[in-house]
Amino acid sequence: MKLATLALAALALAANADAQTKLKVGLMLPATGTYAALGTAIDNGFKLYITEQGGKLAGREIEYVRVDDESDPAKATDNVNKLIKRDNVDVIVGTVHSGVAMAMAKAAKDSGTLLIVPNAGADAVTGPMCAPNIFRSSFSNWQPGYAMGEVVAKKGHKKVVTITWKYAAGDESVRGFKEAFEKGGGTVVKELNLPFPNVEFQALLTEIAATKPDAVYTFFAGGGAVKFVKDYAAAGLKKNIPLYGAGFITDGTLEAQGADAAGLFTTLHYADSLNTPRDNAFRLSYAKTYKLQPDVYAVQGYDAAQILAIGLAAVKGDVSKKAEFAAAVEKAKIDSPRGPFTLSKSHNPVQDFYLREVSGKENKLVGVASKALADPGKGCRM
Ligand code: PHB
Repeated sequence: MKLATLALAALALAANADAQTKLKVGLMLPATGTYAALGTAIDNGFKLYITEQGGKLAGREIEYVRVDDESDPAKATDNVNKLIKRDNVDVIVGTVHSGVAMAMAKAAKDSGTLLIVPNAGADAVTGPMCAPNIFRSSFSNWQPGYAMGEVVAKKGHKKVVTITWKYAAGDESVRGFKEAFEKGGGTVVKELNLPFPNVEFQALLTEIAATKPDAVYTFFAGGGAVKFVKDYAAAGLKKNIPLYGAGFITDGTLEAQGADAAGLFTTLHYADSLNTPRDNAFRLSYAKTYKLQPDVYAVQGYDAAQILAIGLAAVKGDVSKKAEFAAAVEKAKIDSPRGPFTLSKSHNPVQDFYLREVSGKENKLVGVASKALADPGKGCRM
């Protein structure tokens, strides 16, 4: 062979080896819209863990392919298929919005592609749509709602109005709240809704004032959560009718909400003042890297990478070994900044839910509202 031909052959070999060794991660997250900041925090958290591992998992370098899903369920199937069919990714990480996540779960189930959900709480993802190749590093919508239902009942409130966006996350959050609150002797007297991602709250706030409940329970997140908390205070409701929520109402939003969020009680699987060595190390590392404080979304992104690392280590980087990958993750205790957690049979975190109170720019830990709370995983067969 001529020297030039040899050189070309060597180049081709090297390119081939590179293609085999790089692990393609498809990040399907919102980069625009009311959940854009949540997508960024997840992306940051995920990459932080990978960077801490020297940029490699199981010896394979990571290559990212990104899709902005716009939190739009109507575009979700096309978007996820771009990653699966066009880009041929090894694993999909996403997303924030429950409606988008359900389309992703269907595509992952049908194609067998590995999917790790770093936020969206759609109960169905670890319920009827559960699969050996689908994992969640976050929560089910039922979980923080249920934890808050117990808290509000114990506080002695009897009549509650709920207010949320009309889609899976809002509906399921309210359902979880209602289950625990009514078990504890309370009644949900009115369920108010508006379409996602609308923020015209005025008419609904007027209705709350007229109904005069003992308290209000809410699920909003991202930009919508910022506006809701500000509007609730501006309507003069905050001083008369206590507002409780799934912790998303005040997570990653306090800078923008300012004094209007002060004193709000929420339940979530993270808080800003856990003060454990694990969380302190994570917070320091995140703050140094991004010049920002982390929030629950950053933690969920970080832990999605940890789940991937655990599975990949067990299969030595070979994602086709799905049963071994799942077995390793199923028996793992994930060393999360939130506190260690395991996955349920349906692959949803079994974790503590904290009661937090807003103080300054922090969701301060008050205590554990619900210890090792597991989603019932209704309808999951695998
Ligand atoms: C969801 O759609 O499941 C969702 C979105 C934002 C959150 C939590 C849940 O903060």
